Amino acid sequence: MMRATAQAHPNIALIKYWGNRDQVLRLPSNPSLSMNMAGLITTTTVEFDPGLQHDVLILGGREVSGQGAERVSRFLDHVRAKTSEVVRTVGSPETSEISHLFAHVDSRNNFPSGAGLASSASGFAALALAASAAAGLRLNEAELSRLARLGSGSACRSVPGGYVEWAMGEDDRSSYAHSIAPADHWDLRDVVALIDVEHKAVGSTEGHAVAATSPLQAARVATATDRLAQARSAILNRDFPALADVVELDSLMMHAVMITSSPVLMYWQPATIAVMHAVRQWRLNGLAACTTIDAGPNVHVICTADAAPEVALRLRVVPGVRQVVTTGVGGPAHLISHP
Ligand code: DP6
Repeated sequence: MMRATAQAHPNIALIKYWGNRDQVLRLPSNPSLSMNMAGLITTTTVEFDPGLQHDVLILGGREVSGQGAERVSRFLDHVRAKTSEVVRTVGSPETSEISHLFAHVDSRNNFPSGAGLASSASGFAALALAASAAAGLRLNEAELSRLARLGSGSACRSVPGGYVEWAMGEDDRSSYAHSIAPADHWDLRDVVALIDVEHKAVGSTEGHAVAATSPLQAARVATATDRLAQARSAILNRDFPALADVVELDSLMMHAVMITSSPVLMYWQPATIAVMHAVRQWRLNGLAACTTIDAGPNVHVICTADAAPEVALRLRVVPGVRQVVTTGVGGPAHLISHP
């Protein structure tokens, strides 16, 4: 009864989330838009266990301690707090025990973790669903997206399926993601060029905290809603040239903020820039492809399904590109086993 398993995909932001109005609740400074990455899957099992003295986190078959485990424990505290709210309000016997039980969490990715493939998004989306189901909470999609947001902002976008918009909202209750089109609306691909990194980059959480130190952040935030509207209508109309322009502009604006933050966050490697130049040239020559880059050196090349094999072939021979991973548009987070 107190055990559940869930799966979720990472997502790639087409309009980026960068900076928070509330760093603890992860209320973003601007709305964002993403697509889930089919084929990349995080599978997480949560079991609340009366025999445990503390939460246990297993990642990819190995027990993890330190900051990663603490972040998961803090997240589980939100789930425990929710169960005691339910007990107080409806006296549900199903959830009465859970509020003071520790959990065993086993999470694995079918893709390399720590390679910049947004495993925290799929990780916290799968964890939110598995933990809430194991605790006997029956959350609707919006409630689940809000819960996932508390673990990692971008995770709220991995809860709904397909093309997903995260409305900023006013507060904790109103800041969650919803699907603007299902996965089969438009068969885009994300061909990811994985690029060698010499130093471990500063993580997103620290990055969000310094976004406001850049004088460019205010301008980026002020214009984000317009870019999101352009991207949304390009997706709804399946207009690739319109989507390509706004996706590249939005990514460049976020990196302009990063590069001018204090401390400076310079995620690009020489090969990152080489891929950006190459893809711009390919697009001029008629290939339906554009780039977007998260808080790391990898380049996500968004393209149409028919352009994807050619994009992958060409990326493989760009010097500095270590590996190429092609994904389609993925569905929502879902339970694969539950009580
Ligand atoms: C650059 O969601 O990873 O990928 O809330 O601190 O976990 P935390 O940050 P995270 O930030 C994602 C930043 C980004 C852009 C995006 O995905 O929108």
